[in-house]
Amino acid sequence: MQPAADTDRTFQDAMSLFAAGVTAITTMRDGRPIGLIATSVCSLSSDPPSIVVCVNKSASAHDAIVAHGKFAVNLLSVDQSDVVDRFREAKGQARFEAGQWTTLETGAPVLADAAVVLDCTLEKCHDGFTHSIFVGVIERISCSRSVDTSCLLWHARGYARSMPLCA
Ligand SMILES: Cc1cc2nc3c(=O)[nH]c(=O)nc-3n(C[C@H](O)[C@H](O)[C@H](O)COP(=O)(O)O)c2cc1C
Repeated sequence: MQPAADTDRTFQDAMSLFAAGVTAITTMRDGRPIGLIATSVCSLSSDPPSIVVCVNKSASAHDAIVAHGKFAVNLLSVDQSDVVDRFREAKGQARFEAGQWTTLETGAPVLADAAVVLDCTLEKCHDGFTHSIFVGVIERISCSRSVDTSCLLWHARGYARSMPLCA
């Protein structure tokens, strides 16, 4: 059965209303950092601590993640939208010119002052149509020292911030 002509747009409009934390997914290729901005990240299991990340097969970092077998998920803090802007403007290593980058356990690039960093080993890769569904087992977690660090959200095709509701 063919989907209705407006299904694509309706689907995208609907998904744009799912507020999601903005992450930079990073890895290494030929000794150089490579990565993408992604919101399709979610918790999988706590035994072992693991997550799921959905990455487009056409993304430049896709094959690098598979080849390297390690990646980091950097949940951006609210003041790190410049990192997203840089990733959108630039390609390859030049994406890492905004922000301060270091490494933890796996050697994947890790953003200083990110709200949360999950340093992962790629455990499994499942087919998800245009995307691959990467299962990452977490080797190291780093959380911002400030417990009230707001993370950067993507909502209705723009930036937003997480904020507690006041009673
Ligand atoms: C806010 C935002 C969220 C995104 N989420 C994802 C995602 O979850 N998975 C994905 O494969 N690409 C996602 N993208 C697109 C990628 O960041 C990237 O633009 C695309 O994969 C092309 O990358 P390339 O230029 O390295 O090939 C997102 C982009 C933005 C701006």
